[in-house]
Amino acid sequence: MNKLYIEGSKKLQGTVVISGSKNAALPILFMTILIPETIKISNIPELTDVSIAIKLLKHLGAKIIQKKKTLWINTKSINIFCPPYYLMKKIRASIWILAPLLVRFRKAKIFFPGGCKIGSRPINLHLKNLSKLGVKIILRNNCIMASVDNFLKGTSIFMEKVSVGATITMISAAVLAKGLTIIENAAQEPEIVDLSEFLNKLGANIKGAGSNKIFIIGVSRLFGGSHKIIPDRIETGTFLIAAAISQGYILCKKTEPKHLKKVLTKLIQSGAQIKTGKNWIQLDMRNKIPKSVNISTSPYPGFPTDMQPQFTLLNSIAQGKSTIQENIFENRFLYVDQLIKMGAKIKIKKKSIICTGVRKLYSNNISSSDLRGSATLVLAGCIAIGKTELSNVYHLNRGYESFSRKLNKLGANIQNT
Ligand code: EPZ
Repeated sequence: MNKLYIEGSKKLQGTVVISGSKNAALPILFMTILIPETIKISNIPELTDVSIAIKLLKHLGAKIIQKKKTLWINTKSINIFCPPYYLMKKIRASIWILAPLLVRFRKAKIFFPGGCKIGSRPINLHLKNLSKLGVKIILRNNCIMASVDNFLKGTSIFMEKVSVGATITMISAAVLAKGLTIIENAAQEPEIVDLSEFLNKLGANIKGAGSNKIFIIGVSRLFGGSHKIIPDRIETGTFLIAAAISQGYILCKKTEPKHLKKVLTKLIQSGAQIKTGKNWIQLDMRNKIPKSVNISTSPYPGFPTDMQPQFTLLNSIAQGKSTIQENIFENRFLYVDQLIKMGAKIKIKKKSIICTGVRKLYSNNISSSDLRGSATLVLAGCIAIGKTELSNVYHLNRGYESFSRKLNKLGANIQNT
């Protein structure tokens, strides 16, 4: 199933239950390598990226039992420190195997990670900052050979660029290192807060996660325990956009409104009525054409780059002109030419795009290229006139649990045959 057939002119409305966060679950899964005891993790999303992470851990020797959205993981029997190329290459998150293997075995040999082609996706910040903790690194034929003589030693680190991935790598290297590690200019995403809460529950000593300065005092060992993954803020934002672009309304349940402040502000600016509660968000855009909104992506708590494509679609059918600036990734407009094929009026100017809203989009045979772009093109098909054929949809299942099923329950008609 690599194609979807999407009927257009739909109003998307109703209730959707949000799944666990892909970008919180992935680092937490790999951190279990640090703990040689059983850990129970619930609210795990059923995604291909997660199943690849589980395959990687099993390949290393971890014992994993999965019952629906709950996993019991014991990595005590891990005895391999060189995971296979074909799995490492599939996901960006596989880079987070490196530091825990180093902490556990004092050595690791891993291939470069994969990930959406939204930029070059370098890992220089991961490697450069690991070496400050005493890690020796040799790069040879697409392989990273890393080792540490005795133990990792805490130190002060200033991240020259805000990086979610590199911040996570440094947290995982420092929790069992000797002494204090300070990470300045750290990423502040909710997924980093969830990771540090998980590790602190198991005996770590991390303070300041969620701010740009994180303090980690190394401890001698971590213990078993349990954790529930936070809701997926990007899945939530994607469904809010689904209702907003189709003049519908939606109730997103089991989510966390405080993780979406900037997104909700922009939706209100576009004319949506938003109500929020402890774990729900309601959006009403019935009988309203959205107003266009200018977007400029930045690290959390700024506007999330993972919501950039979805807001380009909103602006494509909104009233007026708008500018969308992508400041995180250098190649995150791959979906734009497909929207133009559907009648959108968009001009790309280096790091930004200029959108002029049109009344209608029209179905076409289009193709996806990355995860968030794919979700955006599915939503475009739902509101376009006619039936859209979308190919290369394998990206979707990497990051959205039952996306078509959830949309069909909201009134879409998406089939894979
Ligand atoms: C994480 O990617 C997320 N992926 C991305 O979500 C998200 O868009 C991104 O953080 C937001 O910053 C996962 O959590 C699996 P970065 P990551 O390191 O860690 C540069 C999705 O759709 N950089 O924060 O790869 C990098 O090129 C995905 O769910 C370096 O230069 O992102 C980028 O320009 C897409 N050197 C910027 O930093 C490095 O060593 C931010 O990247 C690392 C990063």
